[in-house]
Amino acid sequence: MVSRVIPVAPFDLVIFGATGDLARRKIIPSLFHRFAVGQMLPETQIIGAARTEMERLAFVDLIRASLLEFAPQAAENETQLAGFLNTLSYVRVDADGEAGWSVLADLLRPEAVRAFYLSVSPTLFGTISANLSAHGLASPDSRIVVEKPFGHDLASAQALNADLRRSFDEHQIYRIDHYLGKETVQNLMALRFANSLWEPLWNSTHIDHVQITVAESLGVEGRGEYYDRSGAMRDMVQNHLMQLLCLTAMEPPSKFTPDAVRDEKVKVIEALEPVEPANVVRGQYRACDGQGSYRDHAGDPQTHTECFVAMKVNIGNWRWAGTPFYLRTGKKLRARTSEIAVVFRDPPHMIFPKMEGRRGNALIIRLQPDEGITLRTTIKEPGPGGMRLAEVTLDMTFVDALGPQAEAQDAYERLIMDVIRGDQTLFMRGDEVEAAWAWADPVIASWHEARQVPSLYDAGSSGPEDALMLLHRDGRRWREIEA
Ligand code: BG6
Repeated sequence: MVSRVIPVAPFDLVIFGATGDLARRKIIPSLFHRFAVGQMLPETQIIGAARTEMERLAFVDLIRASLLEFAPQAAENETQLAGFLNTLSYVRVDADGEAGWSVLADLLRPEAVRAFYLSVSPTLFGTISANLSAHGLASPDSRIVVEKPFGHDLASAQALNADLRRSFDEHQIYRIDHYLGKETVQNLMALRFANSLWEPLWNSTHIDHVQITVAESLGVEGRGEYYDRSGAMRDMVQNHLMQLLCLTAMEPPSKFTPDAVRDEKVKVIEALEPVEPANVVRGQYRACDGQGSYRDHAGDPQTHTECFVAMKVNIGNWRWAGTPFYLRTGKKLRARTSEIAVVFRDPPHMIFPKMEGRRGNALIIRLQPDEGITLRTTIKEPGPGGMRLAEVTLDMTFVDALGPQAEAQDAYERLIMDVIRGDQTLFMRGDEVEAAWAWADPVIASWHEARQVPSLYDAGSSGPEDALMLLHRDGRRWREIEA
């Protein structure tokens, strides 16, 4: 199957923080890939804006080096690389001063789609958006893109929203959660809403429970001090896992438009029941095999911040009452793997002999690695030994089914092109972010009130024992974390 690349009209993209880590690792390599396949046209302007004084050529050299490191195929075609670098310019802009704004204004073309990407600390969102507005750069159709962390709690998220909305309308604001740009996450919507097979089963009558796992094998080495100010609940659960939960649990929107989809997601978050402390397990990896512990990496021997969370979440609505969602995420676990497992109920009456170790039907949507879908089914064990049952999986990896073009693009490629096309479906709306914080805040507060100490686990394991108990006591078990 050959995918069609539909070019987007030349645009002007201003990247604030263009010399920073995210821009060099993700944003610029993603743009390069879109250029290489012909979606981003040579007439596009990528304007780097940062506070460092720098000549255009120095900026181009920096970006060339970043591409060779983070998009190695850039080295294979010098003409293409030169073509991409040709779209770059650089302006020194003082985010909270006067320098640079008029130079930037002169570069922008009135007829081109205009987007401002704030790859900077959220403390600068308000100042930069106010300056864009004050200097006449923010046209009614221009877009502003912001990255997480979008707030630290409900109050700070509300303040950020208020800052942005002073200069931009909600339809111009693109809040990135890069999980929404992952191919399989979008496929979850296709699976649910483009097939008639699943929807009749997609409720508590037929689904026993759902497990959402985002496991990472790396720890927080190198960024422990920064990470320790947030922890897994803020860094992963409030945003990425919440998005996966919403897309799994939401009602079918009446149409595939940004607000129809986001309205349904907000309803799921608002239906989440408060989480009882007994239904949450927090963890930290301990020192093991000569490798440091979480506390070593965080640089604080006393820290109580968690780098692992497992929790049982109930959704209080007709579709899901009685079907818990178990969420689990952590650092330094056995493998890097992310999946959503929808586990179905057993048949109401079993006419065959009991099968040892039976786990039942499950639909597993794998986000990474090897994006694909697996359906666990029960069949007769082959051979003449009577009616013995066995469980097998129907496996489909997207690459096997669709060829190399299904190899996952970086989420940022899709998301940046959506910004230019003006499609907000895969971006979080302000009320959605606030609703997620309103749910997460009391959970975090309860840990502080109880002075709860995270449980320890070995690096390379599946997390703390208590996390296993969370399911065991409900007569269930987690799927293995394996690559
Ligand atoms: C980021 C978190 O948002 O997502 C990181 O801040 C985490 O802590 C990362 O490692 C995981 O993203 P991915 O795409 O590698 O699963």
